[in-house]
Amino acid sequence: MMKCLSLFTLGGMALLGLSLLCACSAPGSMKKEETPPQAVGGTDLQRGINLGNALEAPSPGAWGVSVQPHYFSAMRQAGFDTLRLPVRFSAHAADQPPYALDEDFMQQVDESLAQAMQPGLNVILDFHHYEELMRAPQAQRERFLAIWSQLAQRYRDQPPALCFELLNEPQGQLDAAAWNDLLAEAIALIRRSNPQRRILVGGVDYNSVNALAQLRLPADEHLIATFHFYEPFEFTHQGADWVAGAQAWLGTAWQGSAQEQQVLREQLDAAARWSQQSGIPLVMGEFGSIRQAQAGSRQRWTAFVAREAEKRGLGWIYWDWCGEFRIYDCGADAWEAGLLEALMAPAD
Ligand code: BGC
Repeated sequence: MMKCLSLFTLGGMALLGLSLLCACSAPGSMKKEETPPQAVGGTDLQRGINLGNALEAPSPGAWGVSVQPHYFSAMRQAGFDTLRLPVRFSAHAADQPPYALDEDFMQQVDESLAQAMQPGLNVILDFHHYEELMRAPQAQRERFLAIWSQLAQRYRDQPPALCFELLNEPQGQLDAAAWNDLLAEAIALIRRSNPQRRILVGGVDYNSVNALAQLRLPADEHLIATFHFYEPFEFTHQGADWVAGAQAWLGTAWQGSAQEQQVLREQLDAAARWSQQSGIPLVMGEFGSIRQAQAGSRQRWTAFVAREAEKRGLGWIYWDWCGEFRIYDCGADAWEAGLLEALMAPAD
């Protein structure tokens, strides 16, 4: 007790001394935090969750996650307003024209959409893991457009809560020029049947912040841009078996030091500035940390990134539900409580 008291007193004196020092030596330097750049706001996609590893697995259930109807009410009750549903449509479409989507699979997608919208979630239907397109954009162009044409027709009468996301994380041979060309054609095609549907589009290089600068979007009031945020990658992806060399990063912590925070702030500033300058709303469509990372670091990082995004008018969508970056334990049907609290704390 004695020890605590004396430490407290000493700490208090040190703090007082420090504030006096600041106040005396640099009047006016105690300025309040500057307002960061503000993204264009106005979307109701503010606090979202990615149902990863389910319908974007090579076949449903292959990665251990299947869609259960009660997940969506649990998400809604916890305060999420948006679900991003990654789907590997390319694994469920024929290889030859007219590239018909498999009806049994599409009925599963229909059902998941209806179940998610029932408790009032916005749903972003996201075309995920089209790896063949990244390798051979020209050869797959017609197929990509044909798949979107079928999706647009199928969901044309859905309520505005349903949004489309053209393609998750363009990369590889699908460079900025090829992607800008393809996205313009895909949007025009979707607009024939869905004149006002909200469409999300991100830049190349895995939807990186930097690639936003190369993104060329047609004039269209119903587009929302998206980027993914996993900085520092050695922390968020430590031990990820799909990332070469990631085993060596195990044990990487995120302490939230001034310097660590600054690196992330600068990137989020750049994202928000892009939105401000382009006039296009922007969301952080994926961010999260792998479960191998230490719990305290995960909570600190998650709370920091979510609050800093909010300060810049950026809605966020956590990756993921009960996959490798999980916030929910699907086996036990229970939240990772500390992480949920970190994510859902009130905005600063
Ligand atoms: C990928 C996932 C991956 C996550 C984090 C997503 O876009 O599709 O497989 O777990 O990013 O790397």
